[in-house]
Amino acid sequence: MNTIPSTVPHFAIAIDGPAASGKSTIARLLAERLGLIMVNSGAMYRAVTWKVLQENIDPHDNAAVLAMMDRIRIDCGHDGITSTIAIDGINPEEELRSEAINANVSAVSAIPEVRSKLICLQRGYLQHSSIVMEGRDIGSVVFPDTPYKIYVDADEEVRAARRTDAGEVDSVAKRDAADSGRKTAPLMVAEGATILDNSHHTIDSAVEAAIDILKQQGLEILD
Ligand code: CDP
Repeated sequence: MNTIPSTVPHFAIAIDGPAASGKSTIARLLAERLGLIMVNSGAMYRAVTWKVLQENIDPHDNAAVLAMMDRIRIDCGHDGITSTIAIDGINPEEELRSEAINANVSAVSAIPEVRSKLICLQRGYLQHSSIVMEGRDIGSVVFPDTPYKIYVDADEEVRAARRTDAGEVDSVAKRDAADSGRKTAPLMVAEGATILDNSHHTIDSAVEAAIDILKQQGLEILD
């Protein structure tokens, strides 16, 4: 494990990128290597979508989704390694990667008020620990001032194949188009982010590449 000097105040490493680019795996292993908490912001959008579908709400009915958001309790925490989320006391983790959630999460996450509520919870993590947070708008909106930003990309065929290999039904191209085309916080390469092309890396070499980028961005990492 590499370490960060204990004198360094809390900071966020932002990992953004399109669906199935490998950003979760890189974020998780980076957090493990550096002794930080990994926060999966996509899981929060997925959990809200899970609740929307549970309640038979039309994901495109913004007013109904917002009324639900006002009603529910969202508890964000972590288990010492990664973020956890519970909605009205239930952790829906096992169901978050279902076909139905894959198909509807982009609509729910395009609603600005859903985003502002979740962004507030995302920023809250930094009060307690240093984090690696992955998502779509972490470097651009959630933590625009962090100097540590990586945009993980990969060829579309590679990404689609990764999802199929994982046994998931997920139209990554459709989700990317929705996430990149939305008005609020679209998927983009944040200012100051370095692109890591993960089309041909092994997992280990991708993590090494990420560590090199972070060192270049000024993060003090002890070997
Ligand atoms: O793991 P994968 O890349 O497939 O997606 P995810 O990170 O679980 O995110 C699922 C969806 O949540 C994305 O397609 C976005 O619509 C939304 N999302 C977002 O809008 N902003 C974030 N920071 C994270 C996810």
